[in-house]
Amino acid sequence: MAMTLDDLDLIERGDPHNVRDVLAGFPRQCREAVRLRATPALEVARPPLVVVAGMGGSAAGGDLVAACAEERLDVPVVVHRGYGLPPAASGRALVVAMSYSGETAEVLSAVDVALERRLALAVVTSGGTLRERAARHDLPTVLLPAGLMPRMALGYLLFPGRTLLQGAGLEVATEVETAEAVEIVDGLASALAPEQPSTANEAKQLAMAIGERLPAVYGGPVTGPVAYRWKTDIEENAKAFALSGALPEMNHNAIEAWRAPGAHGVHLVLLRDVEEPPAIARRFAILRELAGPAAGGVSECRARGRGRLARLLSLAYIGQWTSYYLAILRGSDPWTVPLLDELKRRMSVEGPSDRVLD
Ligand code: F6R
Repeated sequence: MAMTLDDLDLIERGDPHNVRDVLAGFPRQCREAVRLRATPALEVARPPLVVVAGMGGSAAGGDLVAACAEERLDVPVVVHRGYGLPPAASGRALVVAMSYSGETAEVLSAVDVALERRLALAVVTSGGTLRERAARHDLPTVLLPAGLMPRMALGYLLFPGRTLLQGAGLEVATEVETAEAVEIVDGLASALAPEQPSTANEAKQLAMAIGERLPAVYGGPVTGPVAYRWKTDIEENAKAFALSGALPEMNHNAIEAWRAPGAHGVHLVLLRDVEEPPAIARRFAILRELAGPAAGGVSECRARGRGRLARLLSLAYIGQWTSYYLAILRGSDPWTVPLLDELKRRMSVEGPSDRVLD
């Protein structure tokens, strides 16, 4: 397997859309994304609630913003994945509609509801119907460069989300923390790229350790959303099943599944964070003791950096590369998502969205 991932010709053949270049360019994407601003500018007083409406890869940007917000804001930042908006999105709440393609039905319906309720509303998109609708209503819009798969545009979604909230008086990460996050992914880019041999490449090592097994990725209370992101990246890039969860919650349920006879076919991946409280570190240690012997293998991946944003983004970036190498190992094109595309196509031709809402 090491041979496979160190064979650059084989990687090239397994990656006809050059996802490796997109991932290697992620630090550049982040630097560019930090500078993006909304036009017209978002002018709102500090809202009592922020709802980020997004799905899939676009929602992942919202998840990281929300995870940072939890640390320092007295205002909840909620990621809404679905049609419409929850009733709590009312009054002075701010809605940020994120859809990289601008064609996601759920996000468009959230925008409709936000307009109906006359909520403060900002948009992050690369185009499509969402861009048109935003232009029609003169909504503050961060326009992103097009051409990526949404899940590979994490920087473009995350940093403008942070900037928009900053403009609304909500600082989820300081300038210093933002710069640190970009610097950390910059440092990781060459360490995780295909040219870096598997002996010194953490993402290749993780992918090889997982191999043919089912990955179960567990984070802590802060890194849990990133564990979910690993799962979705593995699903979409490697076209493979993956499990995810977060401590302490999984200690209360999923842990029992490790007694199942199939546990040896599952590979445990623990996302660790220097800032995890001692009780969480102990829970990870006990989980390893209890589930480790039953698992097919155990790997740990440690967040980099000091600030929460850097720690979360570094883990997400390592996950992107790990899922990329898993795709190569499993012979699947890490770019295409044929079933997702087909589902969207059928939804668009098969009739009214209100049937979905029944
Ligand atoms: C595809 C991907 C998906 C999309 C989702 C929503 O690369 O990551 O999870 O993010 O289907 O589409 P967008 O992000 O365009 O609103």
